[in-house]
Amino acid sequence: MGKPSEKQGLRKGLTSYGDEGFSLFLRRAFIKGAGYTDDALSRPIVGIANTGSGYNPCHGNAPQLIEAIKRGVMLAGGLPVEFPTISIGESFAHPTSMYLRNLMSMDTEEMIRAQPMDAVVLIGGCDKTVPAQLMGAAVAGVPAIQLVTGAMLTGSHRGQRVGACTDCRRFWASFRGQEIDAHEIDEVNSQLVPTVGTCSVMGTASTMACIAEALGIMLPGGASAPAVTADRIRIAERTGATAVAMIGQKLTPERILTPDAFENALRVLLATGGSTNGIIHLTAIAGRLGIEIDLNEMDRMARETPVLVDLKPSGKHYMEDLHKAGGLTTVLRELRPLLHLDALTVTGRTLGEELDAAPASFAQDVVRPLHQPIFPQGGIAVLRGNLAPGGAIIKQSAANPELMEHEARAVVFENAEDLARRIDDPELDVQADDVLVLKNIGPIGAPGMPEAGYIPIPKKLATLGVKDMVRISDGRMSGTAAGTIVLHVTPESATGGPLALVRSGDRIRLSVTNRSIDVLVSDEELRQRAAARPPHAVAAQERGYRKLFLSSITQADKGCDFDFLAATEMTVKVPRPRD
Ligand code: FES
Repeated sequence: MGKPSEKQGLRKGLTSYGDEGFSLFLRRAFIKGAGYTDDALSRPIVGIANTGSGYNPCHGNAPQLIEAIKRGVMLAGGLPVEFPTISIGESFAHPTSMYLRNLMSMDTEEMIRAQPMDAVVLIGGCDKTVPAQLMGAAVAGVPAIQLVTGAMLTGSHRGQRVGACTDCRRFWASFRGQEIDAHEIDEVNSQLVPTVGTCSVMGTASTMACIAEALGIMLPGGASAPAVTADRIRIAERTGATAVAMIGQKLTPERILTPDAFENALRVLLATGGSTNGIIHLTAIAGRLGIEIDLNEMDRMARETPVLVDLKPSGKHYMEDLHKAGGLTTVLRELRPLLHLDALTVTGRTLGEELDAAPASFAQDVVRPLHQPIFPQGGIAVLRGNLAPGGAIIKQSAANPELMEHEARAVVFENAEDLARRIDDPELDVQADDVLVLKNIGPIGAPGMPEAGYIPIPKKLATLGVKDMVRISDGRMSGTAAGTIVLHVTPESATGGPLALVRSGDRIRLSVTNRSIDVLVSDEELRQRAAARPPHAVAAQERGYRKLFLSSITQADKGCDFDFLAATEMTVKVPRPRD
């Protein structure tokens, strides 16, 4: 490996002392204090974003991955240097992990820019980490490659296979419905997460891993290997080596994250029955590059993209089963006629070339053939109507078919506290065919758009065996959850969106066939209700990150990015309309 050019390695991004020679002299002196030789310091540098944290068990294998990445970097002639960034563990972040995603993206972008590195390996995994890293790295101007920690293995409870977090919710619902007792819910609590790694179903973490591979920003085959397998370690080693190769090829993110790549990613999101959160995150990543996700065109794409992957919560298998079935390659092979095969990947080869070079297919029952899908249309439908002029979504592949055309009375909860206070009240006026409405859990309302859209079935109905009801909110839902649940209602109620105007007793009509969601109240009545509401404003006493968040967060249809982080101009919409 020859000497790095002026702008490579330690010479990159010198600290400003007014004397470049002195800046480099000082930098070399300090890093030599850590024991590096001149030979090591002459190599191209691969930064490794270490997101290991005691508060993030989903990233519990980060130390082993870093060791393997370093091995790969050094085998390829580079110098690996790890650095920390924020880590976000889904169930350890208050008020919600989404509140911190943009902060992590800023941290990632700025630390890539600030420190000398010629390429960067991003170790993501838990739900918000991969989107945060891709949002940041997309515009940092340095070749970037995504690695994920990988899914956890499944556990066993009384002979039944279990895994986080679809089964967490299933068992908790059974406990609420008094089908299992306190002893059993304690027992299963120790089995749902049997290893480190990300949730074992097609939740948001698995969805984002598949999306990253489909975008071409991860090694082919990199999405599915479980966290505690040799395959995962080998992928990490190859990721390190690939990062070095990307330097020579100047494979910066904007060459990979193209409109074609985003269309491929949307196809994969739909065909995997992926998390609804995937739309928000893809919108935010694309938005950094001036690419707008068009919800209407995405709905058109959804109608022609079947769900092929039989994983919970839409199906029955787990991520380790997808890995044994050949991983995302098996899905991409089936989707081949619908994909842009010329899209470039981190290997420097196209998606089509990678599929041609992939191991041969074999018989398996996790990924269905294109002509024999698990669900005929894409998992996610986009709804509009007087309740959601800016759009709302429903994960139809995980919904109850009998509730997808439904008109009924609204039972309204004003916010998450109101819900917690009244949902299990035996006096709550609610029937099985009512529509549950939860306000003020949007990007600003909660704040942070928590995954509270999975409104629990009122206890008095759960104990009668009611498993699903139509539920509507401006919040999000965990990718591991299922039900007839309308999410991301835009604009949100906290800013005066129509959802804020709904009252208990109003009638609401949901038609997934017509892609509509309406409150059956006259325009005049809605105008009067709106006029009676105080205008939305950020309170004067807010400060710090919370003030930045409340002042800058965009709505779900814009990816909930901060307005000053998205590209100043959107130059292309995807999916692009078909001729
Ligand atoms: Fe981290 Fe599910 S909680 S991936």
